Amino acid sequence: MKTVAFFDAKPYDIESFKRYSCEDIKIRFFENKLNSDTVSIAACCDAVCAFVNDSINADVIDALEKYGVGAIAMRCAGYNNVDLKAAQGRIKIFRVPAYSPYSVAEHTIGMILLLNRKLHKAYIRTRDHNFSLEGLMGFDLNGKTVGIIGTGKIGCRFADIAKGFGMNIIAYDPNKNPDFCGEYVKLNTLFEQSDIISLHCPLTKENRNIISSESIEKMKKGVFIINTSRGQLIDTQSLAEGIKSGKIGAAGLDVYEEETSLFFEDMSDEVIHDDLLSSLIAMPNVLVTSHQAFFTREALDSIARTTMENLKNYFEGTDSENEINT
Ligand code: NAI
Repeated sequence: MKTVAFFDAKPYDIESFKRYSCEDIKIRFFENKLNSDTVSIAACCDAVCAFVNDSINADVIDALEKYGVGAIAMRCAGYNNVDLKAAQGRIKIFRVPAYSPYSVAEHTIGMILLLNRKLHKAYIRTRDHNFSLEGLMGFDLNGKTVGIIGTGKIGCRFADIAKGFGMNIIAYDPNKNPDFCGEYVKLNTLFEQSDIISLHCPLTKENRNIISSESIEKMKKGVFIINTSRGQLIDTQSLAEGIKSGKIGAAGLDVYEEETSLFFEDMSDEVIHDDLLSSLIAMPNVLVTSHQAFFTREALDSIARTTMENLKNYFEGTDSENEINT
């Protein structure tokens, strides 16, 4: 029997993983996030299962190796929070490369519709029997240009949906995808021409702060910026300044560069010490959701199924295309 320490476990994770339980693998669920302070929980386990806001740095890798942990099964697509260099040749890293690109693409369009047609305000108004339309005017998406940064599985699904709305679709991606239904342009052209910019690329050293004061400067006045990828793609301070100056018309943020200790947790009884996040949340043209774009029944089911397959493959010594640092 192999044992897996499952970090940052939420009730919905436990429910979906229990559906794929197997006799040979015992999963021990822990609410703690995986970091230098909590890694000792994994002592005596054969593998760990981690998520997007766990901090799997070199110290954590050292400790896991010392405890005899041989694999980290990420139950997500992104792995920017794992020190791959430290893990190389010591601990195998697996991920779930795709679970439901539709979930994230559909959340993205939901954010755009809410911000454009001010549904958040309309919902509150009509509950108060205020049926005025003052201040609720939006624009037709039909005919507007959406710029997509990253045309992988999610970016392409989002492009398909945007095409259905009659939008003009342009994208920047160093790797062209034959599945993409729009036109590839240079990054600066995308900044200059887009009415809405949506981020769908992984976070890398090269593209950290791809949305910065310099890139915002090049954009159209009133541009919408939507980020469902990773928080550090945006320099949030510059974004806030762009919103305050009116250069940015609206922002939809499902991810935030300092989300680690906040997102996925109920902080409703606490004072948030992050003034930047608090000020963004207070802005009428900003929508913050707490990394929920993936959160559909289908995606959770697929995450649990693939993660358990990855663990089985690891324990049986079978090659897996979901291993990152082969
Ligand atoms: P993917 O691997 O299918 O596609 C990523 C694309 O980004 C590739 O085509 C790649 O060439 C491109 N790319 C890489 N660097 C780039 C750059 N500097 N500029 C432009 N394009 C670049 O990944 P997928 O499945 O489409 O996911 C995209 C991202 O979405 C993930 O890396 C993750 O950060 C995020 N994500 C967010 C979720 C959420 O719940 N908010 C859930 C799942 C993923």
